[in-house]
Amino acid sequence: MILNLAKREQKYLMFNKDKILITGGAGYLGNVIVRELIKKNYEITVIDNLYFNQKNYLESCKINFLKWDVRDAKLITKNFLESFGVIIPLAALVGAPICEANQKAAYEINTKSIQHIVNNISSNTKIILPNTNSGYGIGGSKYCDESSPLNPISIYGKSKVESERIVMSHKNSISLRLATVFGMSQRMRLDLLVNHFVSEAINDNEVEIFEGKFMRNYVYILDVARAFCYCIENFDKMKNNVFNLGLEDVNLSKIDLANEIKKIIPNFKFKINEFDKDPDQRNYIVTNKKILEHGFNFVGSLNEGIKELNLGIRNLPKGEKYSNI
Ligand SMILES: NC(=O)c1ccc[n+]([C@@H]2O[C@H](COP(=O)([O-])OP(=O)(O)OC[C@H]3O[C@@H](n4cnc5c(N)ncnc54)[C@H](O)[C@@H]3O)[C@@H](O)[C@H]2O)c1
Repeated sequence: MILNLAKREQKYLMFNKDKILITGGAGYLGNVIVRELIKKNYEITVIDNLYFNQKNYLESCKINFLKWDVRDAKLITKNFLESFGVIIPLAALVGAPICEANQKAAYEINTKSIQHIVNNISSNTKIILPNTNSGYGIGGSKYCDESSPLNPISIYGKSKVESERIVMSHKNSISLRLATVFGMSQRMRLDLLVNHFVSEAINDNEVEIFEGKFMRNYVYILDVARAFCYCIENFDKMKNNVFNLGLEDVNLSKIDLANEIKKIIPNFKFKINEFDKDPDQRNYIVTNKKILEHGFNFVGSLNEGIKELNLGIRNLPKGEKYSNI
């Protein structure tokens, strides 16, 4: 009897919550975000075309998985979109090199498909978008906050900033400007700065560091997933705002980062490359006070993240592609 009541209550709670649509949910961030939302009993639909032929770990979970392309307007209709209370559009070609190599697709996936979503949802549908903070790029010792101008240079950076502009024109939206993400995911990416350095350290390769003094801000992948949950749960106080999302006390140059990794993996070797350039000239110190003032707290630390990567990367199955490049 008590058990039945608990089950009924659970069912009620589940259906009382917004239904969530996540595009690109089988990606690096998507896997971890979906896992966090499942823990909270949300009803989740994922659209992902498995662009990297990645194994779809999500199918075994309790979600509705649609192997669709976000560009397919015949499938992603007004009727379909209106059945969701929250939309998290993650699907994108992510990173400067892949966008440079596929410029038309980058525009269609990263920007045009977002416009299609915004054009076809009702005014009370909530959208939470991840943007990149590449493009603050003012360098020096000045802190960037959410009002600092974003001037991305790469096609990737431009497509994301444009998608943020589109999403924020919908009066029920939040944009999270993510710092450089680190940590393990079921769809692993080793092309992200911290993950890449740790992977090279493990493989005993010497890393060439270009733009070594450029400052970056960092965020643990689980905190990204927690922030999406936090936005859903605190939507009314967060909505119609843009938030930086990174560890407030971790603004480090690439050389400082390499030295942090060396403390944990002492064999890590790196040398300075004076010639290569960062396509988005990402050199910034970011303040994350706004999201902290809205009550969000971070659980991850760079140090623990490096330790986790040091174990996790060693256990990755060999022979799979772990990069967007
Ligand atoms: N990882 C980061 O450091 C970071 C930082 C800032 C913003 N973001 C944003 O977060 C989102 C997810 O990034 P990620 O790191 O998980 O990248 P990812 O490449 O691992 O994930 C992208 C996902 O989108 C899917 N996809 C690509 N094209 C598609 C299409 N046409 N239709 C359907 N699905 C498609 C891919 O299969 C993949 O699962 C992106 O929007 C990215 O711009 C990521």
